[in-house]
Amino acid sequence: MERLERVPDGVDASVPSSARVYDYLLGGKDNYAVDRAVAERLLALAPDTRSVAKANRAFLTRAVRFMAAEGIRQFVDLGTGIPTSPSVHELARETHPAARVVYVDNDPLVKVHNDALLGGDQGIATIEGDIRRPDAILADPALQALIDFSEPVGVLFVTVLHFVSDEEGAYDVVARWRDRMAPGSHVAVSNMTAGSDPEAVESLAAATAHTPAHSTFRTHEQLLRFFDGFELVEPGLVPVQRWRPTIEAVPTRMVVEGGVGRRP
Ligand SMILES: C[S@@+](CC[C@H](N)C(=O)[O-])C[C@H]1O[C@@H](n2cnc3c(N)ncnc32)[C@H](O)[C@@H]1O
Repeated sequence: MERLERVPDGVDASVPSSARVYDYLLGGKDNYAVDRAVAERLLALAPDTRSVAKANRAFLTRAVRFMAAEGIRQFVDLGTGIPTSPSVHELARETHPAARVVYVDNDPLVKVHNDALLGGDQGIATIEGDIRRPDAILADPALQALIDFSEPVGVLFVTVLHFVSDEEGAYDVVARWRDRMAPGSHVAVSNMTAGSDPEAVESLAAATAHTPAHSTFRTHEQLLRFFDGFELVEPGLVPVQRWRPTIEAVPTRMVVEGGVGRRP
């Protein structure tokens, strides 16, 4: 498979990036040797990590389709990742052809790819931004041009909050968005959990120590706090394979829990 070896401006190919590790796990080719080394180390100890990455992406797919069916026509995808199809605008537009989407990621490679693929689409914007600074994202003119907070909005935090520690204010980040969201808005959250196999957790921690891909594993109870001020829709916060599954749910050693909340 042809791999990405040219390094765009602003991209550091010597430090593993969570976007590129995840891309490799999903079978993409936008990753470097340093990312593949982290992923392979992880796969050696927890071979089902690739399955859980795919199950997480499938959760995002079902959550966006669910929100669109609930009438949501505008989305903010925080921690977008390197483009992978179907992406949020493709899913939302199955139901609402004029759906608008703002993608946000702090990895410069995401904006490089998204702008190349989607730059001509007036209903889509990509912001290079850090979710730890929600006010900067909310004030971004590209977001303000597309998102009308007087209408319901779908906000996605799909496998991104484990990159924000409690000390960095992970719960406040979600609350800041919640306070802007009109009634009928929805939030989707998924996160690696402390209920994962300890060896797999240790392996990931060792492989990503002191890099931006370092993760915080939270307990089920801690994850529920992200839904403060939202009503969890059925089936609640569960391993992503079990959230409204369309195929048989196969458990994995690395556990990612996900849920969708509605703003009353
Ligand atoms: C595991 S990927 C998830 C991609 C996508 N949300 C999904 O679940 O399929 C995590 C993404 O979050 C991004 N990310 C990590 N920390 C971030 C931060 N502080 N601000 C914005 N994006 C961040 C990474 O660059 C990466 O693209």
